[in-house]
Amino acid sequence: MRDEVKQQEPAASGKRDRRFGAPRGAWYPVDRVRPGPVHRTAGLHGETLTFQVDRAGNPGSADDSGGWRLLTRFGLIWARPMDGDPDLPQLPPAPPDTLGSIAYSEVPADADYDQAVLGLVDPAHVPMIHRSWWWRSDRRRDKTKAYAPSPFGFTAMAADDFASTAVYDLVKQDRRVTIEFRLPSIRLERVTARGFELINLTTITPVREGHVVLRNLILCSDRRAALLKPFLSATGRVFLRQDVGILQRLEGRSPHLPLVFVGDPDKPSAFYFAAKAALARAEREGSGYVNPVEPQTLTWRT
Ligand SMILES: [Fe+2]
Repeated sequence: MRDEVKQQEPAASGKRDRRFGAPRGAWYPVDRVRPGPVHRTAGLHGETLTFQVDRAGNPGSADDSGGWRLLTRFGLIWARPMDGDPDLPQLPPAPPDTLGSIAYSEVPADADYDQAVLGLVDPAHVPMIHRSWWWRSDRRRDKTKAYAPSPFGFTAMAADDFASTAVYDLVKQDRRVTIEFRLPSIRLERVTARGFELINLTTITPVREGHVVLRNLILCSDRRAALLKPFLSATGRVFLRQDVGILQRLEGRSPHLPLVFVGDPDKPSAFYFAAKAALARAEREGSGYVNPVEPQTLTWRT
């Protein structure tokens, strides 16, 4: 990795440190697509965004925020202010129409933005925070994942049989699990197997300083799973509340402290800050985004 963040000094007091906080020129989900017509409001970067949605739930232009852009993808409405490079960073490609929504949940949290995003990339997060028996085994094992650069971030692929959650054992044939992180705060888990595809999307939206919304959405090729939507959505909410619980325990301990990354388990967190630095540089210099992540295999025990 060319631009690894090994150690960072705290920002001088009163000065905004560009390494921390939510990139302003990026897309964030602000609502889900719900039928209108109706006016909706949403918070982003400390501002209130008002927009009209049509009968199908698609947004028109923002009413009063002077140039916000809106689009729909993954069944969510995404917004981005005009400042920043209009091409950076791009959203993931739209999922195929063959996938239907089988779960949606959102939970607000009084939490630091970067701490919330680190929860999307930290390999210790899932085994330490989401401890339901059907989600993970209590047996500790060495896990190996192959990391590779992907657009505006990086993608991890399980390199052994134990690196994925136990519930994915429901589909076995030719199963492939990848977890993509894309700036600013998108975690996209994809499971493909013979005749089966699932996308599990988690996002963090910076509503205002110290306040975020966590969202989780699951799309699946097996439409029968839609019958379980109320149950799966409630389960998603349980997961997000577990996230909020740990974030609120971290209150007062923001990452605006010297950051020290040690060993393989901390590498994805270092990738995150290096990716943000690369985005800031691309916007500042008007150059293309140069991905700082290089392919590597990481191992840890959880
Ligand atoms: Fe989580």
